[in-house]
Amino acid sequence: MDKLKIAGTGLTGLVGSRIVELLGTDFDFIPITSTDMDICKPDEVNKKLYEIDFDIFLHAAAYTSVDGAEVNEEIARKINVEGTKNVFEVVTNKRKKFIYISTDFVFDGTTGNYDEESVPNPISAYGKTKYEGEKIVGKDGMIMRISYPYRARFDEKKDFVRTIISMLSSSEQFNGVTDQILTLTFIDDIAYAFKHLFQNYSSEIYHIVGGDSLSGFDSIMTIAEVFGLSKEHVGKIVYDQFYESKAKRPRNGTMISKKNSFYPMKNLRDGLGEMKKQLS
Ligand SMILES: NC(=O)c1ccc[n+]([C@@H]2O[C@H](COP(=O)([O-])OP(=O)(O)OC[C@H]3O[C@@H](n4cnc5c(N)ncnc54)[C@H](OP(=O)(O)O)[C@@H]3O)[C@@H](O)[C@H]2O)c1
Repeated sequence: MDKLKIAGTGLTGLVGSRIVELLGTDFDFIPITSTDMDICKPDEVNKKLYEIDFDIFLHAAAYTSVDGAEVNEEIARKINVEGTKNVFEVVTNKRKKFIYISTDFVFDGTTGNYDEESVPNPISAYGKTKYEGEKIVGKDGMIMRISYPYRARFDEKKDFVRTIISMLSSSEQFNGVTDQILTLTFIDDIAYAFKHLFQNYSSEIYHIVGGDSLSGFDSIMTIAEVFGLSKEHVGKIVYDQFYESKAKRPRNGTMISKKNSFYPMKNLRDGLGEMKKQLS
């Protein structure tokens, strides 16, 4: 059987590049960089997407700086909303399948336990633009929400786990937030869960998220334990103080899935264990 052809944006990024690395033998990926096609320019999008043939379009490109989006909301909106619209319109005109990667930041974090049926209510500019992107896709594409993705290596951009490892490895004093809950997700698991969804495409929402959720502080403690790093420079801080001059993140961002019975997502300790193995 011919391999599915998956064209996509954002496949050079933190998440997308690992998907291509891990699934590159299962699918024919056609990565489209921002140099090939700026998603904010409808003419470029039209030209590029009519030139190529594909079965599925994976739209992973985004303006991803959460704090940056508060001050550059127009740029974030241009990329996350207009860019998504430009790409989505051409892909659906070509009658091809469309997948949009979204985020836990579409939720307000007041209740936690967000599943695929929970109603978004974003509290940051980034979350708002990503939710507007979701609404463009609506029921005519697949929406995959992910949360705090991390991986063993990616020099171009740090994730939560690698940021904490650097901070724990230096002797600087820093604080972990005790009353915010995060669902950290090992990107390799995201890739393998996506493999199932590429092969079993359906126009609906999926949460592809880690197997447990911990406070920021407890996540830091777990990272220190798994990597054998000292906890002595880590203090405690509360959400209101930590995010006083930053974009608001969901306070209880516990993400769960009612639908993912196809790939077992690791909890933080096991994901970190696998990451450590890959680094050794
Ligand atoms: N990282 C997270 O913590 C996180 C959490 C939840 C959800 N997500 C979502 O997951 C997806 C991937 O995130 P990521 O962290 O892997 O992204 P990333 O590393 O920040 O990379 C962003 C990607 O978007 C592309 N891009 C940006 N502007 C573009 C434009 N105007 N035209 C074409 N391409 C453009 C970039 O391409 P070039 O390099 O070619 O410029 C790059 O590949 C995003 O949709 C994000 O919202 C991320």
